[in-house]
Amino acid sequence: MIQLRDGIYWVGAVDWSIRNFHGYITNRGSSYNSYLIVDEKVALVDFVKAPFAEEQIRRISEVIDPKKVDYVVANHAEPDHSGSIRRVIEACPNAEILATERCINTLWRYYGGDIKATPVEKKPSLKLGKRSLTFVPAPMAHWPDSMVSYVPEEKLLFSNDAFGQHLASSGRFDDEVDQAELMQEAETYYANILMPLWRSVGRAVKALEGVPVEMIAPSHGVIWRKDPGLILKSYQGWVAGETKLKAVVVYDTMWGSTQLLARAIADGIASKGVDVKVHCLGASHHSEVIADVLEARAVLVGSPTLNNHLFPSVAGFLAYMRGLKPVNKIGAAFGSYGWAGGAKKAVETELLAAGIQLIESDIDFVFKPSGDEAKRAYAFGESMGEKIVGA
Ligand code: FEO
Repeated sequence: MIQLRDGIYWVGAVDWSIRNFHGYITNRGSSYNSYLIVDEKVALVDFVKAPFAEEQIRRISEVIDPKKVDYVVANHAEPDHSGSIRRVIEACPNAEILATERCINTLWRYYGGDIKATPVEKKPSLKLGKRSLTFVPAPMAHWPDSMVSYVPEEKLLFSNDAFGQHLASSGRFDDEVDQAELMQEAETYYANILMPLWRSVGRAVKALEGVPVEMIAPSHGVIWRKDPGLILKSYQGWVAGETKLKAVVVYDTMWGSTQLLARAIADGIASKGVDVKVHCLGASHHSEVIADVLEARAVLVGSPTLNNHLFPSVAGFLAYMRGLKPVNKIGAAFGSYGWAGGAKKAVETELLAAGIQLIESDIDFVFKPSGDEAKRAYAFGESMGEKIVGA
């Protein structure tokens, strides 16, 4: 049994094998965290994904008879946190479900309107005994229904999706896992899940200022107990759009021409002391690329022209990035074509639609770039590097 505090248990599940989380590549798996507070009253915080329902019930049963659960708190209705609801209702027949009104409505849509639940708008806190639970709606951090729950007596925050990581691990706490992996997964998670919601996530982070928090227990990944300030500080930077001396060059290629240009541009940028990440979309998944975009100052996108338009992998990446709305970036387009161009213009249109400040480029060449054209690409990279350094 894993305890966060005396009488507060982790009763979730680790998903070692998930590799695709609705389009986000999760190479290190994930977890669906659920917590059990055993006091004079017993409260379960969050369900788990449906295939892990029996594991959740088994973990609860190792601590207490599930029939003794008095409350179940549903912080969020997305199925990775609500899928076990029917099994939990069956195993915990005496429990009152508490959730935001929007969460209850969403649960009804997914699982049926016969589910009985009390809106936290009518019951904003619960006295459990020595401990209590305070419910704080946090709309759009991640969905409109999202909520966090706080145990003031333990300075413990159940943050649901916020501060999570898609990271399967044998350790349940931040001090039990590799620190570089942990921060990489926290960053990748923010970039792919929360980046477009920076305003609402920022409001939630701001609201935590002045709230004593010694432990943050999210619904994915490990629990922050060693230094919750570390992830709070990272979120403060991300929601503020803070960037590093970093650029991302992302492209795909048909016969090597756009790749030649990508590498020349990257070398030019790097010559100015900028860290450059180069991603070929034939090798890198868009969710890996977007993790690098988060803290980059510049995003340069290259595409061959195929049938007068974008190469499909580049079109897919641009659509993904447009939805995630990265802030505080400059960008540029480049490419190659055979007889009629079109892709570079289409990249520019998409960069603008993503809210990226467009820097004009003339790096768009017919068939294979000549030596002089490759030099022009390098020089363009140098000029971008200077802009990045000066930003
Ligand atoms: Fe982890 Fe918004 O669900």
